[in-house]
Parts: sequence; structure tokens; C-alpha cells
Amino acid sequence: MTAEIIDGKAFAAGLRARVGDAAAAFEAQAGRKAGLAVVLVGEDPASAVYVRSKGKATIAANMASFEHRLPADTGQDSLIALVDRLNADPAVDGILVQLPLPAHLDEQEVLLRIDPDKDVDGFHPVNAGRLATGMEGFVPCTPLGCLMLLKDQLGDLSGKDAVVIGRSNIVGKPMAALLTAASATVTLAHSRTKDLPGHVSRADIVVAAVGRAGFVKGEWLKPGATVIDVGINRTDNGLTGDVEFDSAASVAGAITPVPGGVGPMTIACLLRNTLVAAHRREGLQLDQAAL
Ligand code: GUN
Repeated sequence: MTAEIIDGKAFAAGLRARVGDAAAAFEAQAGRKAGLAVVLVGEDPASAVYVRSKGKATIAANMASFEHRLPADTGQDSLIALVDRLNADPAVDGILVQLPLPAHLDEQEVLLRIDPDKDVDGFHPVNAGRLATGMEGFVPCTPLGCLMLLKDQLGDLSGKDAVVIGRSNIVGKPMAALLTAASATVTLAHSRTKDLPGHVSRADIVVAAVGRAGFVKGEWLKPGATVIDVGINRTDNGLTGDVEFDSAASVAGAITPVPGGVGPMTIACLLRNTLVAAHRREGLQLDQAAL
């Protein structure tokens, strides 16, 4: 079998276009643009690239982008003061503080300070709790993008056996919560899991988020499985995922490539979350199922 390649880049472009149309409609109704504030502390080159592309994508989607670039030696108090100002700013619907922060800053205190109703990254524990209990909130962008690709590929996920590999707060845990809410039967595997190949061999859906190049082997997979590869690992052969692509593509039914799979979905979902935040703050309806 040769797997279908899931084109995350094309899906993300479509989502960004739909969000852009809905953002234009929001502006007409609300009399202002939906706004996303992105905070970057320091000069980490990879973070600077991400922040620039987030800003461009925000403007292209008919939203306002507020970029705050602070020097690497910014103190905790001034960063907290900026978050407080953004929390209080009526033009700002979403706040994203780019991670990682320089080592002298307390990341947890900063993330806790963001108003949960502007937390479009979905990293605040209030939003993690809302997701875990089925309340309306914000879901982290990468797992949300994975779920959208899975639903587009498979339709109803109910009763599917899913294995999520990796238990991070940003991907693995929210991914498991989303799949559970979609009525899949979920195994959340991690570095201490016994017989990972055995678990994977029974899975209709495999989401790999471990950060180790080529960790998941094709021979572990159930024939026809849908494989979502969240890994972005820099190797001598360029960017590679957490799944050994060639062996997996000969067994899986469908698989995301790296790059061009999950990656482009993350910014698209950030824009989606920002638009949702703007509608909630203005008390306006948004048909999320149509996005
Ligand atoms: N750094 C890398 N990815 C992300 C992300 O999705 N959100 C934030 N805040 N920082 C990141």
C-alpha cells in the first residue's frame, strides 16, 4: 500500500482564506478589526521568523497585528506590565507570548497572567481545564490543526482507536483530550510506555509528537492507519518528522509529510482562535463549523 499524502499546506491555505472572509465580515459588524498581539523577547532567530510570519498571516487575514519586540534583558516586571496592558486593551482579542522565553524569565508566571479569554495559544491552565471538562475555551493551535486534518480525512472519529505519542502540555495532552471529546478511544503513550510498537499496531490513528527524528517505524503501523506527524527535527538531511516517512508511507492509509503537513496548520488555527476570541468579546455569533 502507498499512503495518501495529507496536504496540510493546502488545507491551511483554505482555512486561512475562510478565516480572512469571516474576519472581513467581523470588521463590518463590529466596526473594528479583530486584533492579535504577539510578544517576542530577545533575538532567537527561529522565534523571530515565526513571529514575522504570524504578523504577515494576521494582516493577510484582515486582522490587526500588534508586534511587541522586547530586548533579551527585559525584566520580569516589564513583561508582566506589558501583558497587563494587552489584557486591558480593547483592540486586542488575542495575546501570544512567543516561547521559549530567555532563561531569566518566569514563563509560567507570564502565561498565568494572560487573560484566559485572550489566550489564543490555549496554554493557560483555565483553558486546559475547560478543554478537559468540555467547556468552551481555547485549544492549543497544533493539536487543533491535527484534529481538523483527521476529521477532514476520516470524517467521524467515533470508536476509532487512537495512539498519541508524547504527553506535553502543548501537544500530547490536549490532543488526547480532543480525540476523547471526538469519541475516539485514546492511548496517551510516552517515554515510559511498555511495548509502544504493540500499542501502535492496534491504532487506526497515530499522532506522533515526541521530538525524535524517525522514531516511529513503518512496521509498527496497522495497515491503512492514518498517521499525523507533529515532529519538526533538524537533521543532516534537512527537516524530518518523528515518523520514518518512507517505511510508514508503505503501510499507512494516509500520512502527513514534514514539512507541509501539520506545520502550516498551526498559524491558520491561531488566526481561527483569534477570530473566535473577537466574536466572543463582542458578543457576536460565528459559525465555527463553517471555518
Ligand atoms: N513557540 C513555538 N511554537 C509556539 C506556539 O505555538 N506558541 C507560542 N507561544 N510559542 C511558540
